[in-house]
Amino acid sequence: MKSPLTNSFCKQTLIKITDSIYPIKIIKYLHMNKLLALIIVTLFFIGCKEKKETNEIKNDVIIVNSEELRYRPNFHFTPKAHWMNDPNGMFYFNGNYHLYFQYYPDGNVWGPMHWGHAKSKDLITWEEQPIAIYPDSLGYIFSGSAVVDVNNTSGFSIDGKTPIVAMYTYHDMEGEKAKRTDFQTQAIAYSLDEGQTFIKYNKNPVIKNSDIKDFRDPKVIWDDANSQWIIVLAAGQKIMFYSSPDLKDWKFESDFGDGLGSHDGVWECPDLFKLKVGGTIEEKWVLLVSINPCGPNGGSATQYFIGDFDGKNFILDTNFKNDLKVKKAIWLDHGRDNYAGVTWSNIPKSDGRRLFIGWMSNWDYARDVPTKTWRSAMTIPRELKLKKINDNYKVVSQPVKELETYKKPIIEKHNISFSKQFTLIENKSVDINKSVIDLELSNLKNDTYTFILSNSHGDQLKFGINNLDLYYFIDRTKSGPTEFSNTFANTISKAYFDKPQEKIHIQMVIDKTSIELFYNNGETVMTEIFFTNSPMETLKLVTLNNSETIINNLVVNELELKD
Ligand code: FRU
Repeated sequence: MKSPLTNSFCKQTLIKITDSIYPIKIIKYLHMNKLLALIIVTLFFIGCKEKKETNEIKNDVIIVNSEELRYRPNFHFTPKAHWMNDPNGMFYFNGNYHLYFQYYPDGNVWGPMHWGHAKSKDLITWEEQPIAIYPDSLGYIFSGSAVVDVNNTSGFSIDGKTPIVAMYTYHDMEGEKAKRTDFQTQAIAYSLDEGQTFIKYNKNPVIKNSDIKDFRDPKVIWDDANSQWIIVLAAGQKIMFYSSPDLKDWKFESDFGDGLGSHDGVWECPDLFKLKVGGTIEEKWVLLVSINPCGPNGGSATQYFIGDFDGKNFILDTNFKNDLKVKKAIWLDHGRDNYAGVTWSNIPKSDGRRLFIGWMSNWDYARDVPTKTWRSAMTIPRELKLKKINDNYKVVSQPVKELETYKKPIIEKHNISFSKQFTLIENKSVDINKSVIDLELSNLKNDTYTFILSNSHGDQLKFGINNLDLYYFIDRTKSGPTEFSNTFANTISKAYFDKPQEKIHIQMVIDKTSIELFYNNGETVMTEIFFTNSPMETLKLVTLNNSETIINNLVVNELELKD
């Protein structure tokens, strides 16, 4: 299935979005007395609820029926109820990390977009807040960003309160239906209560366009060198740069992207930031561009570009450009479930990290996943860094260090050798459904190293390293229910590497319905979701050719979570 916004690229068919939830429909379609219909619907839902909450035992295996128990992640952000997609407007202020998100509070599929809101002190434990921005006569509130206007350049401050200024896209549904091309415009709203509530600017929209249909997702940044605000905006198959002194008046500067990277899908949700090249004082600019459909393993994915930004133009790095000729696109994450990710603004200089979060789903099947109460989770927040490998720059991602404080090591092993198979986690010796596993393997040969995460129901999630054909993979074809969408498990996801690995470090972040794999300190990342029949219990590593393999280090951590 496709994003509600993208055209028919990749030969996929657009499926109509329904924005009503089924009780409403049932009432609408039952041709009978309203009271009788209400009683029937109520009884039906009581019945469903009871069934959902009661576990069954089949062949001595407990089948967990409660959606909460079975599918709600333990430590990834999910809304309490209803539909969520992209992360929006993230900023840090006064000890709180703020996360907004594309939210439809009246249904479990995409619909009129609002900005939902959550807050956290440590990026791991989140508290959902009241909705921050509601749609209005100008349209739905699409993705965007927020900045802390410390110098009050916008003039929105009252009584010395620091304004938080959000910039988002208005999506005018009527305009879209009428097949006009000016139905996406950019607007601002400000908050004087640290992001709890927003007041829309009375001269919205602040940027219009007449002929670009996909014109959205402004990411505002402060350009220190030129003392100006910059936005990066997705415009069809390009990124546009605008500048402003006050967040209200915007001047078009340049565009970027013609003929560069993947153009197989619509460009969405860009971000632009500067990173120090690891271990040096050199700095480079990173431009993130999400694209849907036609990611490396199908559907939604995020590519990036590295270069320099002079306040007007983004100039692609020459070596990176050469790499693009060979690889077509460079992907931030090769799994199928990390989309529309962007970074936090206003992280204190003393901290200095570039912090990222993505939507842990894919437009191919996001509306079909088997959770009815809520839909979607975010990835684990990650720190992005820049590394120079053989003259080329690479963005590496790692879970934020705050996750460390939740880790409780349960199993620690060193210097073990095995050839056929090694059991990392025996039946339930650790609650693998909220775990972080650090593993270093060496003596890798021309062989295949397959991790099998499984339960007594027979569900298996397989992932690992194919050192014969040179790729990392995730195979969720047998991981549990997959039939809810014919694109969910139609392929095995792969991330190719150049030469056989001799030694490898893997960090696995496992949370009931998701796995995030960070190979070699985040040089290659794969994020995917899966839905099991019962909790996973066992983790094994199996070689295909029985090569002798050494486990240098293994630490299995269970996460101790706050209630
Ligand atoms: C990306 C996206 C954005 C848009 C939003 C609408 O997933 O399509 O381009 O602003 O979702 O919900």
